Amino acid sequence: MEEFSVTPWKVTGQVDYDKLRRQFGTGRIDDDMRNRIKTICDGLHPMLSRGFFFSQRDLKLVLDDYENGKGFFLYTGRGPSGPMHIGHLVPLIFTKWLQDKFDVNLYIEITDDEKFLFKRELSWEDVGKHAADNILDIAAVGFNPDRTFIFKDSEYVKNVYPLMLKVAKRITFSTTRAVFGFENETNIGSIFYPAYQVVPTFFEQKRCLIPNAIDQDPFWRIQRDIAEKLGYKKTAAIHSKFIPPLQGTEGKMSASAPDSAVWLTDDEKTVKRKINKYAFSGGQTTVEEHRKRGGNPDIDVSYQWLSILFEPDNKKLRRIHDEYHSGKLLSGELKAILIERVNGFLKEHRKNRKKAEKLVDKFMYKGKLAKEMWERAYE
Ligand code: TYM
Repeated sequence: MEEFSVTPWKVTGQVDYDKLRRQFGTGRIDDDMRNRIKTICDGLHPMLSRGFFFSQRDLKLVLDDYENGKGFFLYTGRGPSGPMHIGHLVPLIFTKWLQDKFDVNLYIEITDDEKFLFKRELSWEDVGKHAADNILDIAAVGFNPDRTFIFKDSEYVKNVYPLMLKVAKRITFSTTRAVFGFENETNIGSIFYPAYQVVPTFFEQKRCLIPNAIDQDPFWRIQRDIAEKLGYKKTAAIHSKFIPPLQGTEGKMSASAPDSAVWLTDDEKTVKRKINKYAFSGGQTTVEEHRKRGGNPDIDVSYQWLSILFEPDNKKLRRIHDEYHSGKLLSGELKAILIERVNGFLKEHRKNRKKAEKLVDKFMYKGKLAKEMWERAYE
């Protein structure tokens, strides 16, 4: 099988998720954990029950802490390198579900520094515009405004700089080179940056749980090496697979390949055109062939997207699966279902985004948690 590679900045090849989990040294999500979550949350999010979130670190300890009253907090983030695609929304949608069910604080880091440093072509001004735009999309997901703090790295830095230095002092260049593949040519801002992504895991003395796609895990490995030496807990994490690009199941839906993704700003016509033109099909080449031999949902991107995000109803998804597999449902018909769902989703998102304009100030400065955070200094 072709080799694959996963780093926080690039994913290539057909990812073998079990192999990746072993390489990264993370645990699987077992039935015991799923059952515990199901009991506490009175049901499971489809992204959990269908195995899209497939890997974890210390999730058991998070559930222990929750059940014995110690509690925990959530932390996730977004790098504002440009507009957002639906892949970027996936961890946020799941995070909202966790916040609703467990009623916990949530910190969302907007890494304007990271994207400025890592993307040669991005000006500081551009990053600022993308950050403002992304924050609206994030606010539209519907987090609890009094328990959620959305912060931009460049703005909040004055409240965390001494703590960040303590983190940075514990991380050597050779570690970051091994973990992230930094080279002599890497600018020194990029080399320092991982210290900031670690800091929010220390915002509370409680255990931190990070929902993210597995590409971000290298940061948590570093965090877990140094947390206890600094008097904090090792962070826990829950990792998803990648929502695949339209063109097939290799790599991830990525901002660097515009036609691989559906953007939150795509209008109805664009969604229709992209899915019809690009969505990789597991169907047969002719209708007769398809009726006879059926399609393969496992490699069909439209089916994968329905399963990850756009068809939460298990019974309906099962019917689509079976009818496609048997040849009753044609590729064009499957795409039509997806187009309708994606457009419905984006319509709702646009409405929520409009409403969220009023909430941004609360998430960033005026809500209960945000206010507390601006009054706090981390050393
Ligand atoms: P960024 O902006 O690249 O990605 C934001 C989040 O989206 C996930 N992601 C995906 N999930 C599913 N399918 C995809 N195709 C896909 N592409 C991206 C990422 O894993 C991430 O969770 N350095 C980070 C920002 C950050 C962060 C964090 C992320 C700072 N602190 C804590 C997660 C948790 C970044 O540039 O993410």
